[in-house]
Amino acid sequence: MIPSGQKDFQDACSTMQVPRTGVFFTSIGSQEIMLARNAAGDIVAFSGFCTHSMGKLEGGPVEGDEITCPHHGARFNFRTGQAKTACPNLPKYEVKIEGRRVLVRPAR
Ligand code: FES
Repeated sequence: MIPSGQKDFQDACSTMQVPRTGVFFTSIGSQEIMLARNAAGDIVAFSGFCTHSMGKLEGGPVEGDEITCPHHGARFNFRTGQAKTACPNLPKYEVKIEGRRVLVRPAR
């Protein structure tokens, strides 16, 4: 049984859609999800909303391991979610791979 308020894993995308370098954005309900691969090549998922002012990160420029928020320029390591500017790190979501599908447990 799923505890009250806790969402279960939900289908996010195909493993093929998550690039070796760079990011892939999708949504699950009202949650924006940013997917990438960590240093080991495993798929990781973070909130696709910037922690500065909740703007969507999608469309922000990507350079090296960083994505820059297109709204006010906050920068994040897309492999770890670590903020590179003065704002909180991106919330990380649990990921489960089933066959070629990426399942993500979005925010509770
Ligand atoms: S909303 Fe991303 S930097 Fe302001």
